[in-house]
Amino acid sequence: MTDKTQSGIFPASAEFVANAHVTAESYASMYADSVKDPDAFWAEHGKRVDWIKPFTKVQNASFAPGNIDIRWFEDGTLNVAANCIDRHLETRGEQTAIIWEPDSPEEQALHITYRELHEQVGKMANVFKGLGVGKGDRVVIYMPMIPEAAYAMLACARIGAIHSIVFAGFSPDALGARVNGCDAKLVITADHAPRGGRATKLKDNVNQALLHETRDVKCLVVKRTGDQIAWRAGVDFWWHEEAAKVSADCPPEEMNAEDPLFILYTSGSTGQPKGVVHSSGGYLVYAAMTHEITFDYHDGDVYWCTADVGWVTGHSYIVYGPLANGATTLMFEGVPTYPDASRFWQVCEKHKVNQFYTAPTALRALMGQGKEFVERCDLSSLKVLGTVGEPINPEAWNWYNDVVGKGERPIVDTWWQTETGGHLMTPLPGAHATKPGAAMKPFFGIEPVVLEPTSGAVLEGNGVEGVLCISSSWPGQMRTVWEDHERFEKTYFSDYKGYYFTGDGCRRDEDGDYWITGRVDDVINVSGHRMGTAEVESALVAHAKVAEAAVVGYPHNIKGQGIYCYVTLMNGEEPSEALRKELRDFVRQEIGPIASPDLIQWAPGLPKTRSGKIMRRILRKIAEDDYGALGDISTLADPTVVEELIDNRMNKD
Ligand code: WT7
Repeated sequence: MTDKTQSGIFPASAEFVANAHVTAESYASMYADSVKDPDAFWAEHGKRVDWIKPFTKVQNASFAPGNIDIRWFEDGTLNVAANCIDRHLETRGEQTAIIWEPDSPEEQALHITYRELHEQVGKMANVFKGLGVGKGDRVVIYMPMIPEAAYAMLACARIGAIHSIVFAGFSPDALGARVNGCDAKLVITADHAPRGGRATKLKDNVNQALLHETRDVKCLVVKRTGDQIAWRAGVDFWWHEEAAKVSADCPPEEMNAEDPLFILYTSGSTGQPKGVVHSSGGYLVYAAMTHEITFDYHDGDVYWCTADVGWVTGHSYIVYGPLANGATTLMFEGVPTYPDASRFWQVCEKHKVNQFYTAPTALRALMGQGKEFVERCDLSSLKVLGTVGEPINPEAWNWYNDVVGKGERPIVDTWWQTETGGHLMTPLPGAHATKPGAAMKPFFGIEPVVLEPTSGAVLEGNGVEGVLCISSSWPGQMRTVWEDHERFEKTYFSDYKGYYFTGDGCRRDEDGDYWITGRVDDVINVSGHRMGTAEVESALVAHAKVAEAAVVGYPHNIKGQGIYCYVTLMNGEEPSEALRKELRDFVRQEIGPIASPDLIQWAPGLPKTRSGKIMRRILRKIAEDDYGALGDISTLADPTVVEELIDNRMNKD
């Protein structure tokens, strides 16, 4: 079914396979072992990390209704920072741990060795302690992509504090909600964040976010640009000043495998973002193993993931996975198109990058600029290309393969989620011939099931499509929603009992390969950033002139999905271009620029059922320009609103 309609199958070269960690044969036998006897499999792979007290229990996980309880390696103890730093000192202390490439190519790149990393993280950990942060306390990290962001993560891990990173593109309001949501004691930020030649006033945003905070929240500030900022005496501290006062020696705290390592807020289909909680032991084992195997990372390779540490990709595949493996990981402060559209490829050439991992939205944007920007750079160091964040369209896949990879580099299309901690489905570069746009095969220990959406019946065999669930736990799985275990159960385990529900649709083709078809809930994916339509709606209705709003996604050439808003104004308010701009700015202020509405359509009425429920299915179809498929609208309280909405539909271009 799929092979003939898709543009082909791409096997790895014999040379690649000869040197790969996993081949077709070893994948098959390892996968079979991993699901036949998961305890034995993970007992073995649990040894990838150094334990202070080795675990004796491997898995203790239940997806049973009323008893969602997930534990891995539960009687083991370890320290994540010691695993990412200290244990490498003897063998690779002078090796580069982090290559930092600044926003401007004019500025010097940095090479930070494992020994230097050890020193900086030790100092930051001691500074945190001096500011009153201890084991179990929460620290919010609101930072540019600079090495200090990684130091902060690892410093938390070193002393057993739990970090919650807030992407630097989020607004003060969104930041404030997250600081409060986890009762953070400390926020670490920078004066300004340079990105694409412009600077975001991070410290000012923190000041605004904390304006109404009644608790004593301290702020540690990294000097990045040296530009002026407003200082709050007594609660603000400069990192460089504090660092000068402390020793670099900070013994790592002994943590239980199940102690939380971090919280990361992510959007869902309802309500405000939830705090996804990840563990220390299982998470690290899974991040390290997937990093090595998915990217076929070998000692000495230079690995670059272009994500931001504000997203889970940056946690697992810039910091924790690579550093646990003793890798050289590149951290990039800038954007793909600054100073011009060849920046990614110039950085690959400059640092001789071997594995390159990016998002479809970046590829689509660069594709539009023409291949000259790629071809002028020497990309011969590249061995594996990766993509993540959203389904990749075959055009972008083929461009990545032909223009960037010269048809010779395996592409790993990694499907996973904030909740999963690491890759759940992906081709392995030496094992699977890839198909453009397919997530292909489950990683070791992952048992995907495709369910019929309404009945929940398991769809057996190949050539089936439905919703994607996972039937058993894996070490990197999230453990709970921060202080709301009930919401954890309700969101992921209640629609399809006994399974983890991913929220994604999925097809298993005639060959048994998996294709992710996109979200089946009210989550949209804008430039690889996850957004709950409910969040944008609640931002819109918070505006005094808005009576009601409904938000849906629509296909967007570069972003994958754009944000389409239907807005009903308060009685007496007149629609205008100025008001459109005002609403757009308002949402940016409430959430951040990533939530900026692309299209706002004035809607005198919204299609509702007689019981008052908004029929989003219809709104989605109108936004998609797909009127033929509106379906039955006879149950609407007032079917004429649909015609009206179609007549006034916004032009997509
Ligand atoms: C959602 C998770 C996982 C890190 C980045 C996003 C979509 C992610 C793929 C892919 C098709 C993908 C899914 C998923 N998604 N990767 N390779 N192919 N869809 O993490 O913000 O938690 O979003 O992103 O819809 O559920 P996230």
